[in-house]
Amino acid sequence: MDLLQSFLNLFVPVVGFSTLLILWPALTFRNIVMRMLSTVFEESMRGKIVLITGASSGIGEQTAYQYAKKGAVLVLISRREDKLRTVADKCIKQGAMDVRAIRADVSKEEDCRRFVEDTVHQYGRLDHLVNNAGVLQGFLFEEAQDTRAFATIWNISFWGLVYPTFYAIDHLKRSKGRIVVIASVASWLPQPRMSVYNAAKAAAFNFFDTLRIELGPRIGGITVVTPAFVESEMLMGKHVNKKGEVEWREEQRDLQVGPAPVAYAEECAKAIVRGAVRGYRREGIVVSGNDKEYSAEASKEEVGDTKQVIDHVLNERVHL
Ligand SMILES: NC(=O)c1ccc[n+]([C@@H]2O[C@H](COP(=O)([O-])OP(=O)(O)OC[C@H]3O[C@@H](n4cnc5c(N)ncnc54)[C@H](OP(=O)(O)O)[C@@H]3O)[C@@H](O)[C@H]2O)c1
Repeated sequence: MDLLQSFLNLFVPVVGFSTLLILWPALTFRNIVMRMLSTVFEESMRGKIVLITGASSGIGEQTAYQYAKKGAVLVLISRREDKLRTVADKCIKQGAMDVRAIRADVSKEEDCRRFVEDTVHQYGRLDHLVNNAGVLQGFLFEEAQDTRAFATIWNISFWGLVYPTFYAIDHLKRSKGRIVVIASVASWLPQPRMSVYNAAKAAAFNFFDTLRIELGPRIGGITVVTPAFVESEMLMGKHVNKKGEVEWREEQRDLQVGPAPVAYAEECAKAIVRGAVRGYRREGIVVSGNDKEYSAEASKEEVGDTKQVIDHVLNERVHL
């Protein structure tokens, strides 16, 4: 038995490595060819039914405009109805065939069931489900004053993607539709003050990778997007604080973004929709040339000039 074990210990890594050496170039070549073909055979979105959660601002709003330009029918979800209506009007102007705005909270399962069923009742099908809604965390784990803060973040940024998917899955199977997931680089690149958010994004990333295996070709596919910093309300300081309340604090932006480069939401949305219609499994968005000043106007008064702000941010990070 020991002899067999020693033999396997030697044999298996050698065979595994050799197989990898042979298969890797072949798979890379296949992927390149598939990517090239996907640019030619992009999915047409004209008249297709696209449901987007978190469409009242930021990445979700811009993603709605990109689908609108392709002539899709849009169902927009968020809690602020007034903002949704403004986005809906703009979508019509940009070419959407029809738009519905539904006020709903993705952390509530019943709301998710309702908006998926309303969509299918109204339009008869669902082609793309864009799971985008999310909320940022803005405190160190040890600073938390109430564990309800964790549930708020998790219920929106993880269950808020799983519930709509649960109710949409049969419809997506029928239409060979696609799920688009806005995860984050935080799925695999942890940053301080975001422990529960990072965990929710990692869980979402893993959940949808697993679902892709489980569902295989029974749906059109799953595109998981992992943006880095992108301009949005979240990046302007909106976050869940240590008491579990959603608040806006510009200084939060300085702590979490600091001098790091930030991509335009429009560019991010273009990449999301391009990745979706071309059937990509992953779309990573790191930086596109956003020359907006994202460093610390609010904190200048507190800590002096921009350089001091950056030093302050860096020191904050070094201490962690
Ligand atoms: N900005 C970045 O740097 C960045 C980077 C990586 C990943 N992401 C991800 O991108 C997604 C979009 O965020 P964003 O940056 O565009 O931020 P944002 O401007 O704050 O947008 C968040 C959207 O989610 C909606 N939302 C929040 N909680 C909700 C709930 N309980 N039910 C329904 N809708 C809800 C908000 O609408 P209401 O408040 O009206 O409900 C809003 O439309 C998030 O999943 C975020 O984690 C962002």
